Amino acid sequence: MKAGLFALILLLAASPAFASSRSQRGAALFGTCGCQHCHSIDHVGGHKGPDLSNVGRTMKKAAIRRQIVEGGKQMPPFGYILEPAEIKDLVAYLHSCREMPAK
Ligand code: HEC
Repeated sequence: MKAGLFALILLLAASPAFASSRSQRGAALFGTCGCQHCHSIDHVGGHKGPDLSNVGRTMKKAAIRRQIVEGGKQMPPFGYILEPAEIKDLVAYLHSCREMPAK
């Protein structure tokens, strides 16, 4: 937990102000858009979908974006619901999630 917080602070300190505010908005959207209902990040959230704590390492930005816009077998598409800027914010946030997933 402490190590995660330290990594987060390092990450925020290292990123340019614009990028960090974009991913901060994405983090908020992750909760308000319902993603968290199915996905956990850093031990917070549901388990219908895969844990996304490490998705920044396992998926490229384009693939994350496609998943959000088109959905999947068990995931609804969000392309019609979200503004293009909101999708960018979510992709920036998820691309910054680079911890090992919760066991
Ligand atoms: C109803 C449950 C549900 C909701 C809501 C949901 N997802 Fe998913 N998501 C899933 C499931 C299940 C998968 C597994 C693959 C599939 O079914 O396409 C998945 C896969 C993913 C993946 C790919 C993960 C991987 O490792 O392959 C990403 C990224 C993702 N979701 C992001 C989001 C985001 C961002 C939101 C909110 C805008 C969201 N999801 C909302 C259920 C959900």
